[in-house]
Amino acid sequence: MGKITIAIDGYSSTGKSTIANQLAKALDYVYVDTGAMYRAVTLFAMREGFIGGENDNLNGLVDVLPKVDLKFVYNKSLGYSEMYLNGENVEKEIRTLPVSQQVSKIATIEKVRLKLVGMQQEMGKKKGVVMDGRDIGTVVFPDAEFKIFMTASPETRAFRRYKELLDKGEKVSYDEVLKNVQTRDYIDSHREFSPLRKADDAIEFDNSDMGLKEQLERIYNFALRKIEGK
Ligand code: DC
Repeated sequence: MGKITIAIDGYSSTGKSTIANQLAKALDYVYVDTGAMYRAVTLFAMREGFIGGENDNLNGLVDVLPKVDLKFVYNKSLGYSEMYLNGENVEKEIRTLPVSQQVSKIATIEKVRLKLVGMQQEMGKKKGVVMDGRDIGTVVFPDAEFKIFMTASPETRAFRRYKELLDKGEKVSYDEVLKNVQTRDYIDSHREFSPLRKADDAIEFDNSDMGLKEQLERIYNFALRKIEGK
């Protein structure tokens, strides 16, 4: 059976990456978490002082972008790929709240998007890929055979994210996380270059009241039908 391209877009903390990762496993496809790439560039920008200080220097960041080397390395024991920034495993650090608070800004920069979109298109050119992000069905792979747009209420998403951060030992408040979710929604969907929007041919999937097992079953069955060309 031929392989297809699967694009999963949607708001932050809708559980896209969990679904995308499990779907890829079930289909024996490659999973690519494009948010991790924007997060790694953000971490680089923070460490190098381009953002997070008194004044942002986004042009300075653009000038050194060729020096930002990103790689996914599969971790067998964890069962997923980890992000490496210039050779260093930054998987944990890119998921922290300080990075989440800065990432939308970095994702508005056109040159950053061009670099990352080019890498993503390269990673998915042989198909057999499940890619999640904000612009996969609209910009990265507008011809993807199967597109999903995930949504859930901001409160549901903030609560999930809050629990996740607490489990990781981060000291955060629910209100702070809700504010971050709402701010990111706004910036992600109002930016000039590739704003977050549902592709016309994407299936909208609201998972506010749905468990992981049910979501996966439904999406897997949809995917099989697409793979069979129905
Ligand atoms: O999926 P995530 O929450 O890890 O993504 C982090 C940020 O990166 C998100 O706020 C928007 C940005 N992003 C993007 O602009 N385009 C993508 N394809 C993926 C993520």
